[in-house]
Amino acid sequence: MVHRHENSKHSVIAVNEKESVIKALVLKDIKQPYELEDRDDLTPEPGEVVVSLKAAAFNRRDYWITQGMYPGLKLPVVPGSDGAGVVTTIGDGVDNDLIGREVIINPGIGWGDNLRVQSDEFHILGMPTNGTFAEQVVVPATQVHDKPAHLSWTDAAAVPLAGVTAYRALFTQGQLQSGQHALITGIGGGVATFALQYAVAAGAKVTVTSSSEGKRNFAEKLGAVAGYDYRAEDWGKQLVAEQGSPDLIIDSAGGEGYKTLLNIVSPGGCIVNYGATAGPAPKFDHFKLFWKQLQLVGSTMGSPADFTAMLEFINQHQITQAVDRVVKLEQANEALAAMATSDQFGKLVLEIG
Ligand SMILES: NC(=O)c1ccc[n+]([C@@H]2O[C@H](COP(=O)([O-])OP(=O)(O)OC[C@H]3O[C@@H](n4cnc5c(N)ncnc54)[C@H](OP(=O)(O)O)[C@@H]3O)[C@@H](O)[C@H]2O)c1
Repeated sequence: MVHRHENSKHSVIAVNEKESVIKALVLKDIKQPYELEDRDDLTPEPGEVVVSLKAAAFNRRDYWITQGMYPGLKLPVVPGSDGAGVVTTIGDGVDNDLIGREVIINPGIGWGDNLRVQSDEFHILGMPTNGTFAEQVVVPATQVHDKPAHLSWTDAAAVPLAGVTAYRALFTQGQLQSGQHALITGIGGGVATFALQYAVAAGAKVTVTSSSEGKRNFAEKLGAVAGYDYRAEDWGKQLVAEQGSPDLIIDSAGGEGYKTLLNIVSPGGCIVNYGATAGPAPKFDHFKLFWKQLQLVGSTMGSPADFTAMLEFINQHQITQAVDRVVKLEQANEALAAMATSDQFGKLVLEIG
């Protein structure tokens, strides 16, 4: 049932209006566990919607925040960038049709008009603004998109941040073409598993690296032609000998291993970086850069156009997600501990509704 009521600031429309509290996980200080709190129902400002969340998902960002290793830290906060649920309340100026819609949330807010780079106002849901590790979240109406019908709630919640990061890195920045060889490093990572699935669906030949044999085997089940252990001395030479040089490398590690990527990428090829888990590359070989005519490209999350294109791609190829495990909201601290050891393949998801 749909209701309209007045609060002190403006009118809102809500499904099943009720006076109630919601459960939310709160990070109060760094290196402390999340605390489960009861909070008041959320109310949208003009142009905003409240989404009653069915599921949310972890990203490496959530872990960095708990460790105090994220710029602009502002606590306490309800963490969580990824979420999927039902729109239950809308603020002034929002289309009534959104009420009751099953949606996933684009967590990149304020990208701006330039498709090449985000604006200074760009921020990510889940710090500084309260995020999705709760029964409700409030976001601008422009951030919600129809949930792909073939995805369960938990699969849908796994998509937003990692999915759009992988999509932009591969297609918008990396310009991946069918038939090209794409190498995706550190395949256990959340973004990397999306990149693998998207690249395979796009008709690329995909190779991967991982420190774990189990993850390399699983990647092959998802369509990779071969996997290599990035800790082995000559893994790069072995890859080139067996599979040829990659046209495109998608990397979020950086660090010592980056020089191997410069060595093995095909002349005229491209390396896209969206992270630096292993820190900055200690030495940079400028000779390789200009002699091989390389493109070294940075990538961060994605524009609204990337997000829409990613959803079309997921629907077109009926891609399901690599979800490692699903836990209840109350077990979030256990999932967080798993993030510390990176033993997962794909996403850690919180079941909420
Ligand atoms: N710029 C952006 O918009 C954006 C968005 C999302 C994430 N990120 C960044 O990207 C990185 C990955 O995040 P994520 O959430 O996708 O994954 P994640 O859960 O942080 O996974 C990290 C994975 O990195 C791999 N790894 C660690 N050291 C490595 C090395 N030396 N060489 C190659 N791979 C290595 C490991 O893979 P194996 O277990 O397979 O060995 C590990 O599972 C993080 O630094 C994150 O902050 C950036």
